[in-house]
Amino acid sequence: MLFVGKGCVVCHSVNGVGGDEGRPLDAPAGRQLVNPFSFSARMWRGAEMMIAVQQDVFGEQIYLTGQELFDIIGFAYSRAEQSLFGEADVPHDVLELIEHTDEGHPRHGHPDPHT
Ligand code: HEC
Repeated sequence: MLFVGKGCVVCHSVNGVGGDEGRPLDAPAGRQLVNPFSFSARMWRGAEMMIAVQQDVFGEQIYLTGQELFDIIGFAYSRAEQSLFGEADVPHDVLELIEHTDEGHPRHGHPDPHT
């Protein structure tokens, strides 16, 4: 699945599974019309940060084909699809990467007050 395969899960969580560099991408409640442009616009707004962090974590940017972007938007807005997603979908090395990137993250690493 692309959410894992493209590395989104390293920085974004769904159902509480995933990293926290970016905000959770849980699907909004209720049936709604999806505007792919507004999703792309949201990604675009986060792009500068995402690209910086991605280069940090992966050493390169993530590229998506049109079809892949389409699929990932489908996933981001589908509670039905997301309800099937859990830790079991994430390979161990990716889970380790998530733990690794969380380390030393300001929100996790509480600075030692005595140093
Ligand atoms: C290396 C970390 C990283 C990866 C990998 C990553 N993102 Fe992000 N993403 C971020 C950061 C940081 C932001 C900006 C902060 C925020 O808005 O969450 C962001 C923002 C976003 C936003 C805008 C959120 C909002 O509500 O405005 C979307 C949508 C998004 N990312 C989707 C994706 C998708 C889809 C993928 C996989 C193809 C992905 N991201 C991969 C770090 C990442």
